[in-house]
Amino acid sequence: MTRIRFNAFDMNCVVHQSPGLWRHPEDHSRDYTDLRYWTDLAQLLETGYFDGLFLADVLGLYDLYGASPDAALRAAAQVPVNDPLPLVSAMAAVTDNLGFGLTTGTAFEHPFPFARRISTLDHLTDGRLGWNVVTGYLPSAAENTQSRGQLDTFEHDARYDHADEYLEVLYKLWEGSWDQDAVLADPVSGVYTDPAKVRPINHAGTHYTVPGIHVSEPSPQRTPVIFQAGASSRGSTFAADHAEAVFVAAPTKEALASTVRTLTAKLADAGRSREDVVVYALLTVITDATEDAAHAKAAEYRSYIDHEGALTLMSGWMGVDFSSFDLDDPVVGIESNAIQSAVAAFQRSAGEEGREWTVRELAEETGVHATPGDV
Ligand SMILES: Cc1cc2nc3c(=O)[nH]c(=O)nc-3n(C[C@H](O)[C@H](O)[C@H](O)COP(=O)(O)O)c2cc1C
Repeated sequence: MTRIRFNAFDMNCVVHQSPGLWRHPEDHSRDYTDLRYWTDLAQLLETGYFDGLFLADVLGLYDLYGASPDAALRAAAQVPVNDPLPLVSAMAAVTDNLGFGLTTGTAFEHPFPFARRISTLDHLTDGRLGWNVVTGYLPSAAENTQSRGQLDTFEHDARYDHADEYLEVLYKLWEGSWDQDAVLADPVSGVYTDPAKVRPINHAGTHYTVPGIHVSEPSPQRTPVIFQAGASSRGSTFAADHAEAVFVAAPTKEALASTVRTLTAKLADAGRSREDVVVYALLTVITDATEDAAHAKAAEYRSYIDHEGALTLMSGWMGVDFSSFDLDDPVVGIESNAIQSAVAAFQRSAGEEGREWTVRELAEETGVHATPGDV
């Protein structure tokens, strides 16, 4: 029996996906700064038997379009954006079963304080935490957070090599530092933690030196559920090594099948099987009482698409400035250091699937992901 699992997909900002839709009269995304917006959403999802809420995040700006952040700011394209982490404890307090998939990047924060923040949330959610490990594809995030001399870690495959070590440090802190019975909390002897059962991790690697102990006591899961979304060859290898759930955004069923085939092969290389990993496919589902009504609703949503905002996001994802393209230009000849799977998925030779994408179609796809016929 195949179980279908549902993860909602959101971000602590106005325009996560679907630029322009914030202008729809029934849209509430501007309330993202209000905690109740998130606690209501968490309760709604739990009532609807969702497995989890996946929270995307970026620390950088979508400033490739027009070589400036102006278009992103105008469209609210993932800016302004707030930290997703504080939302999780509030949502955990009003739910019992909902899981949380929290996104944070490996390139922007030292693993030692990050390990503690994740342990804290795993305690507070009683083990309902997942972590979406991202390496970051927006150059401005790296530019604003890294010390001089570190920017060489921003090359696509090198970002994953760096992330491998980041996880190595975290696994050592979460799994290796504290014995399960280290906390005695014994009022008679007055010993809270037995020092003999807590070990320094002595990590000395290429990027990090972390000699000490983890400062949090073991949380319910120790290591949270690891999500991953990399679909390039190097990204799939990383996912096969670490992930329990893989998140795939593919514009067609064929592209999705091809990504899953690659992942399955990489899992076999890593000594794991396809069943060891849950694959989540990105879908925008539009429902209504009848099929015609659903199509009408999709068309109405599409009428709100902000094409410039959509291309601003797509420029960041594909690592190319679409402001220099005409809307009817074909999407060809793009090489980039950003999301290589996105570049590959949207850039097809004319024979494949019968057509090339145009820049306009790319904007429409980003505006409302559901393609006609899938609605
Ligand atoms: C569905 C999906 C969601 C993603 N969410 C985020 C995110 O929230 N933050 C982020 O920095 N990257 C996100 N990414 C990008 C991935 O983490 C990764 O950088 C990207 O897929 C590039 O990997 P690749 O070059 O190996 O394909 C997402 C990717 C996909 C497919």
